[in-house]
Parts: sequence; structure tokens; C-alpha cells
Amino acid sequence: MRRFNIAIDGPAGAGKSTIARLVANQLGFIYVDTGAMYRAVTWKVLQKGFKIEQTEEIIQTAQGMDISLKPGENGQLVYVDGQDVTSDIRSDAVTKFVSYIASIGEVRKLLVEKQKQMAAEKGIVMDGRDIGTHVLPDAEMKVFLTASVKKRAERRFAELQTARPELTLAELEQDIARRDHIDENREISPLVRAQDAVLLDSTNMTIAHVVDHILDLCRSRVLGGIS
Ligand code: DC
Repeated sequence: MRRFNIAIDGPAGAGKSTIARLVANQLGFIYVDTGAMYRAVTWKVLQKGFKIEQTEEIIQTAQGMDISLKPGENGQLVYVDGQDVTSDIRSDAVTKFVSYIASIGEVRKLLVEKQKQMAAEKGIVMDGRDIGTHVLPDAEMKVFLTASVKKRAERRFAELQTARPELTLAELEQDIARRDHIDENREISPLVRAQDAVLLDSTNMTIAHVVDHILDLCRSRVLGGIS
């Protein structure tokens, strides 16, 4: 099959990573979770004990670290300077801090450059916030995946119920709304739908349904009906 790139953008909790991974598996493409790269920088910054205001130190940290993404059995593995940080980058501390790190222009420039290189050979499904608008403006297929804040919070709640029973639905809803606000209002590459992206609202759709829909779109729009 012809190799092409798919950009999947959208707010936190819309199901982007699960869906992007499944679409990549179906097509035999490589999945790249760009949020994990912003999380990796955030993890390293927190390890070093820097504060949000220490922009220079944060930029130097991002410039001096090596981030690599490798496919694992249960999804993408993330390494920082050779250390596996796949679960560390999902901590509350990283989740709280990451939107600020992702709003620093120099950090974005650095990561966007890496992301462009990763996709140069095509056959990539990349998810994030600015993939269709800035990272891969020429991606053959662009999807903007969204869902209501309530639905996104409910999904996260169900996912975290065993691991984090103390979290309430209201807290998760607030956190998602707070992250949306920062991501949508930052000066550089805010979360917006690319003009040529297909808008998919997954509020009332199952994961399988969304995946099938994206695969259908690829067949009809990119592969011209050939599977
Ligand atoms: O998708 P996620 O929750 O792992 O993303 C973590 C943060 O990184 C989130 O605040 C948005 C930001 N991000 C971004 O600004 N650009 C991307 N391409 C991916 C994520």
C-alpha cells in the first residue's frame, strides 16, 4: 500500500492516542505520540527542580536531552537519555506542568523539528495539537478529533478508577477544561483545527467506530478507493 502521513489533532482526552495507535496498526504505519515528547521534557525539567519562570534553563534542558520513542507491546515506549520514562511521564506532576512547557516557543521549535524528521519517510500516524497546522501541514489525511468536556472527563474517570479512586469526576472535568484553555489560548501554535482537517466528534461514537471511519476516509480520500 502507498505510504502517506496522517495527522490527528484534538483536545486532551478525546481518545487521540488510542485511536491513532489502532489506525497505525491497521495500516502497518508507525504511531508517534507527540504529547509524550512534551511530557518527556517536562519530566526532565521537574527532575532538575526548575520552576515555570526559569525559561532559559528549561530551553537548555530541552536542547541537551535525547528523547526516543520506540514501539512496545502495549503502546509507545518513551526514553530520555536512554532511561525508560514511559510511566513517569504520566504522573500528576507532569500532567499539571506540561501545558506551560508546551507554551515555550523554543521548546516547540525543537520538538517540531524532531517530529518533522520522524515523518519524512511517510507511513506515520502522528497525534498532538498542532500536527495538521504546523508539524505536517502537507499530511495526506488530517483529522481533528473532539468530544464534549463531560464525555472526555467520564472516559478518563473510567480509566483511572482503579488506579486513582480518590479522583472525582468533577476534578477531572475541571482539569480537562483548564488544559483546553491553556492549549487553545497559547500564543504559539494554539490548538485549532486545520482548515483541511476532517472534524470528528467522538462524543457518541465507540473507539472502533472512529477507527473504522478514519480508515474509510483514508481509502476514499487518499487511496482513491483502493485498499
Ligand atoms: O496529549 P497529551 O495530554 O499527552 O499532551 C500533553 C501536553 O502537551 C498538552 O498540554 C498539550 C501539549 N501538546 C502540544 O502542545 N502539542 C502537541 N503536538 C502535543 C501535545
